[in-house]
Amino acid sequence: MQELSVRHLLGIKDITPQDIQLIFEIADNFKDVINRPIKKVPSLRDITIANVFFENSTRTRLSFELAEKRLSADVINFSSSGSSVKKGETLLDTVNNILAMKVDMIVMRHSSPGAPHFLSKHIPANIVNAGDGTHEHPTQALLDSFSIRERLGEVAGKKVVIIGDILHSRVALSNIFALQKQGAEVMVCGPITLLPKYIQALGVKVETDVRKALAWCDVANVLRIQLERQQMKYFPSLREYTLYYGIDKKMLDSLDKEIVLMHPGPINRGVELSSDAADSHHSIILNQVENGVAVRMAVLYLLAQKG
Ligand code: CP
Repeated sequence: MQELSVRHLLGIKDITPQDIQLIFEIADNFKDVINRPIKKVPSLRDITIANVFFENSTRTRLSFELAEKRLSADVINFSSSGSSVKKGETLLDTVNNILAMKVDMIVMRHSSPGAPHFLSKHIPANIVNAGDGTHEHPTQALLDSFSIRERLGEVAGKKVVIIGDILHSRVALSNIFALQKQGAEVMVCGPITLLPKYIQALGVKVETDVRKALAWCDVANVLRIQLERQQMKYFPSLREYTLYYGIDKKMLDSLDKEIVLMHPGPINRGVELSSDAADSHHSIILNQVENGVAVRMAVLYLLAQKG
């Protein structure tokens, strides 16, 4: 049987194009499973997984929990709010105490970039990075590419623009790595203050005019402004951001082509996307969420084979 080249999923940077294809092939099978009347398989019956979240989440936390339950794993959920982290316990002590309860795998979200990489050097369990600060969000990028592949047939050769707050976005970085590993062309677009200075070194195109970016692409992946990570003002006001970078259905309809609209969520309706764009026929936003469960099932299943 084929297996992943890694025993943790810390970032897309660390995995191979073959790993991505393998995850997608397994996810295709799991997508069939979760659309059956009986949505469960016994694949991880003897595995216990802890979802350890030090930062807020709706989609990722629920999607992992559902993926684990669909695979028949035992699941425990830890959230730092209301925990002994508030009494001064360290990350390593917290996770080692969870592992002492015979847990096999850790899915972790943390606000510090590199937190799952640090853990992977100190604990024996498999780790899945569910988002580490502004660094990576690998399963989001995998489900994004899986959704492009589902809608357009393949990712290779497609032109994908990531629009918005690239500077503070882990979704942007993981998507850049994932798309390039599959042979897509990638552009980033946003106010110059929200584009990292080094970004061109990653081999992406850079554009500050959202209309030109939309005219260029096959797929637009729109990000929210991450106000919670911003220490200073990067643009005058949200109203001004919406005026220059907000996307509505009229803009999408006026393009003389098919365009696929994506968003990792949560959407700030009326800021980066109007409601009529988010809910339009261009949008595959809820398909992304649906595919997240199948993709995460594939990741957990494949990592469990690595022991
Ligand atoms: N896309 C995403 O990571 O959403 P949540 O923060 O709700 O998990």
